[in-house]
Amino acid sequence: MGTRSVWAGEHTLFPEGSHTVPVFNTVTFAYDDLDTWHETAKGSQKGHIYSRNTNPTISVLEEKIRLLEGAEAATSFSSGMAAISNTLFALLKPGDRVVSVKDTYGGTSKIFLEFLPKFGVEVTLCETTDAVQIEQEIRNGCNLVYLESPTNPTLKIIDLKRIAKAAKQAGVTTVVDNTFASPINQNPIALGADLVIHSATKYIGGHSDTLCGLICGSKELVHQIFQFREINGASLHPQTAYDVIRGMKTLEIRVLRQNENALRIARFLEDHPAVSSVYYPGLESNEGHKIAKQQMRGFGGVLSFELIGDYDSVKTVLHNLTYVHLAASLGSVSTLAGPPRTTSHVELTKEQREQLGISESLIRYSAGIENAEDLITDLESALKLVTG
Ligand SMILES: Cc1ncc(COP(=O)(O)O)c(C=O)c1O
Repeated sequence: MGTRSVWAGEHTLFPEGSHTVPVFNTVTFAYDDLDTWHETAKGSQKGHIYSRNTNPTISVLEEKIRLLEGAEAATSFSSGMAAISNTLFALLKPGDRVVSVKDTYGGTSKIFLEFLPKFGVEVTLCETTDAVQIEQEIRNGCNLVYLESPTNPTLKIIDLKRIAKAAKQAGVTTVVDNTFASPINQNPIALGADLVIHSATKYIGGHSDTLCGLICGSKELVHQIFQFREINGASLHPQTAYDVIRGMKTLEIRVLRQNENALRIARFLEDHPAVSSVYYPGLESNEGHKIAKQQMRGFGGVLSFELIGDYDSVKTVLHNLTYVHLAASLGSVSTLAGPPRTTSHVELTKEQREQLGISESLIRYSAGIENAEDLITDLESALKLVTG
C-alpha cells in the first residue's frame, strides 16, 4: 500500500524529467492538427481535451486510488459530497428504491431524507447493525444498496461481505463510503462491493487543506458517473489534485500511526471514571469488533466517547484540551474534536440525532499523528475537571 501510494500513476517520466507530478494548470489542451484533436475528442485516441472532463495531473490521482482500492477504474470530484451526490443521481431514476442505513454521514442522510424523495426515489434506512433487516429490505426489491463502515460518529460496523453478497444475489449495486477506514485499513471491493467512495478531504489528503471526492469501481459504473460529472461540472482542480497526491505519499504511515493513537486513547478512555461509553471498533468490548477484525486491517483514527455529565461537561473538556482544534472534519495530521451536533450531524435536528443515538454528551475525536502520550496526558488533565 505504501509503495502504491507513492508510485501509482508515476512510472513514466514526466515532461523535462520532473521528479514530482507536474500541475497541468490549464483549462484546455491544444492540437497541431484537427484530425488528432477530433480523434481525441471522440475517445479513439488517448489525450485530454478540456479539464472539466480529464486532466493529466488528476489522472495520476485517479490511478493511485484505483490501485489502492483494487478497482478497474476511478474518477474524481470537487468534494466528497460531490462524489456521493453524483453517484446517487447518476445511478438512480424516479421510481427506484435505495436501501441504506440510519447512520450515514449527515450530508448523505440529507440526500436520502430530502433530495432523493423529491425526485421520486424511495429510500429505506435500516438499523445500521441489523444485517437481517438490511438483507430483508434488499430482498423486498431495490436498485441500490448504500453503506458506510465504520459509521460517523459512533463507529458502528456493517458486515460488508454479507450485505454485498445479498445485494449481488438480488442483482443490485452496492456502494460503500470508505472514508473512515481509508484504503489502508479496508478495501470494500475485495469484500464484494461494486463502488467505493472517499471523501479524500479526510485521510487521503490528510492535511485538512483540500476538498476532494473519489470513486472507484467497474469501468462501466465509473464511466456512467463520470459522464454525469462531466456535465454537471463538479470537477476537481489540478492544483487540488496535486495537493492530494502529495498527501497520499504518506497515507500509509499516517494511517498506521493514527490507528495506533486512536487505539491507545480508546483504551485509556475506556477505564476513565468521567467517561460512560467509548465507541471504537478496535476495542475488544466493542459490538462490531469481531466483524471489524475480519474486514479491516486497522481500526482507523476516529473514536467517540460519551461523558457521564451533560453538554456543559463536553464544553469543559473540549475547552481545556491543548492539542486539539475544535473543528469539523477528521483524518488530519493534527487532532480534531467536536460534538457531532456541531460537526458531522449539524444538518440534522436534535430529534433526528436522538433517533440515531447521538447524545448531547458525545465527543468525536479524530486522532492526529502526534505522540500518543501527549494526547493522553492532554485528555487526562481536561477530564479531571469533570470527574466527580
Ligand atoms: C463519511 C463521510 N463521507 C462523506 C463526507 C463528505 O465529504 P466532503 O466534506 O469532502 O464533501 C464526509 C465529511 O465529513 C464524511 O465524514
